[in-house]
Amino acid sequence: MSSEKKYKRYTVTSALPYANGPVHIGHLAGVYVPADIYVRYLRSKGEDVLFIGGSDEHGVPITIKAKQEGVTPQQIVDKYHNIIKKSFEELGISFDIYSRTSNKVHHETASEFFTTLYEKGEFIEKTSEQLYDEEHKQFLADRYVTGTCPHCNNDRAYGDQCEKCGTSLNATDLINPKSVLSGNVPVLKETKHWYLQLDKYEPWLRQWILEEHKEWKTNVYGQCKSWIDQGLQPRAVTRDLDWGVKVPLKEAEGKVLYVWFDAPIGYISATKEWATEKKKNWEIYWKDKETRLIHFIGKDNIVFHCIVFPSMLHAEGTYLVPDNVPANEFLNLEGDKISTSRNWAVWLHEYLQEFQGKQDVLRYVLCSNAPETKDNDFTWRDFQLKNNSELVAILGNFVNRTMVLTHKYFNGEIPAISTITDVDKETLNELSKFPERISASLESYRFREALNEMMNLARLGNKYLADSEPWKIFATDPERVKTILNISLQICANLSIVMEPFLPFSADKLGSMLNFPKLKWNDAGKPDLLKAGFRIGKAELLYEKIEDEAIALQVKKLQDTKIANESKEKPVAPAKPDISYEDFAKLDIRTGTILAAEKVPKTDKLLKLVVDTGIDKRTVVSGIAANYEPEKIIGQKVTILVNLEPKMLRGIKSQGMILMAENAKGELCFVHQEKDFENGSCIK
Ligand code: MF3
Ligand code: ZN
Repeated sequence: MSSEKKYKRYTVTSALPYANGPVHIGHLAGVYVPADIYVRYLRSKGEDVLFIGGSDEHGVPITIKAKQEGVTPQQIVDKYHNIIKKSFEELGISFDIYSRTSNKVHHETASEFFTTLYEKGEFIEKTSEQLYDEEHKQFLADRYVTGTCPHCNNDRAYGDQCEKCGTSLNATDLINPKSVLSGNVPVLKETKHWYLQLDKYEPWLRQWILEEHKEWKTNVYGQCKSWIDQGLQPRAVTRDLDWGVKVPLKEAEGKVLYVWFDAPIGYISATKEWATEKKKNWEIYWKDKETRLIHFIGKDNIVFHCIVFPSMLHAEGTYLVPDNVPANEFLNLEGDKISTSRNWAVWLHEYLQEFQGKQDVLRYVLCSNAPETKDNDFTWRDFQLKNNSELVAILGNFVNRTMVLTHKYFNGEIPAISTITDVDKETLNELSKFPERISASLESYRFREALNEMMNLARLGNKYLADSEPWKIFATDPERVKTILNISLQICANLSIVMEPFLPFSADKLGSMLNFPKLKWNDAGKPDLLKAGFRIGKAELLYEKIEDEAIALQVKKLQDTKIANESKEKPVAPAKPDISYEDFAKLDIRTGTILAAEKVPKTDKLLKLVVDTGIDKRTVVSGIAANYEPEKIIGQKVTILVNLEPKMLRGIKSQGMILMAENAKGELCFVHQEKDFENGSCIK
């Protein structure tokens, strides 16, 4: 199988994020953190690896956003490209190049790619009826149409996809379609497009994925199988739109390449751009059989990276196809799906501002929680816990104790090993096994497992120190303490190597604290990385405790978002039509007092009240049980409509209605009298 082959170089790509918003923790946990760990590991192994990233700057969502904000699409993508690029850099995502699809090389590369396939006769041309907005004189591609999903009845489905049930759609599938531009019902109009014949590549895809890549992750393999088994259809690779790569054909005025056709070619364009800068040959990274191509993506991108893009590469004929596509599932936030439009996210650029110097904490938490096999949840409490009880208490604590003791007993000079006990041998033997274990997990894309193994090395160190208690025996047996600290320091040095892919900032800090040159993966496992007699530097803390206040602030921020979203969804109730004074005067509204209250059995909302209305004492059934406990409202002053015709509710005769105010969240409260007037006072 492919993993047994020996490769000369690696081309590692990570999905190009849409430049219509900043990057959030879902993107990071799904794609960029695992990809970065993987390439840092490969580089540490001395492999030739090219790590590609960039912004995906075409597609309809970007043009819609530009329209909404009254700016050009280019202004939108410039803004977000810069935010995204900078925040990736600050998090230590070590791209060899972070490019963008609005640049010239990309337009040329994508355009040529289309031409090659066109000239090889790989496309079919089809004229079909597409939705058209007559007012704006424009075809309505993808998200320019909304309507009802024919599968799940969601009435906010888009022309390319229903986000509720996940089905990918054609705009013409929507029930009751509406133009996003004008709100009008679109008409059908003929237009010509070019289609990639996925059906033609089906036998090849079947063989290549289902037979030759059984080692792919089960979530990825399963999705591919289901797509292939459903039967593949030709897919349009052009659109009627004015933002994107122009279709390089005379007869295609006003048409551009479909964003999912041009974006993955962006990986190739970025390689060219990098190669030009570095004076390298781009082609071997895409065409040489000894190159291994790997795509890191999220699960919503599987079909494009496993079926569509490989079909394009295969059809072109001179390119490699991916060796693996280790897609992740989704990360949720505090129990809810992350959503850019609802601002339900932890944004990377904000995190970097609010938690300065804590890049590795985020990398650690996202990797240890990465949605590798199923969707996972990020919570701020868990973030705090993982920092305080893992990074601080295990890794940071071990390194700090070792260094502080070395300074205390030996003035910072690395002591020599004197005699070796069985425990020491055992510990060194364990130490030697770690690099191999971590490698095995990383090479099979099990990053959580790899991270846990890395932490097990720190656990090993902690246990070794705790069991051998150098602080207790220094007075009586300083020779023994020399050995213990030497071995502990060797573990620290090893840690600085194996933690680098995961925690590059702390690895650097640890390395310089130890005065230890940056070594490579193949040095790890050795018991003599640090030489006796050398001096270590000052001990500083690798990690700091995160206090409850910092977490509470983040939780509050999310709560505020939730409240803002809820009131957006349920705005102030619309005004009712005017009424006459006569209509109003018919209402007999009085002040009253609740004398008794109890729950109406078998209901959630109803309370049975006895109210003194000044006129009489009467029974009223009121739907306030969700907001008030019956015991707590006895004696409550109320406002009551007394001449509402009596009604039987759950077998109880209700006479009148207690007036309540209701806010946007649907919460109810009593309407108070400012002064304590006697019951039965008229309200007019
Ligand atoms: N922009 C896409 C997304 O965020 C990913 C594009 S990946 C590429 O889902 F291959 F097309 F570049
Ligand atoms: Zn649906």
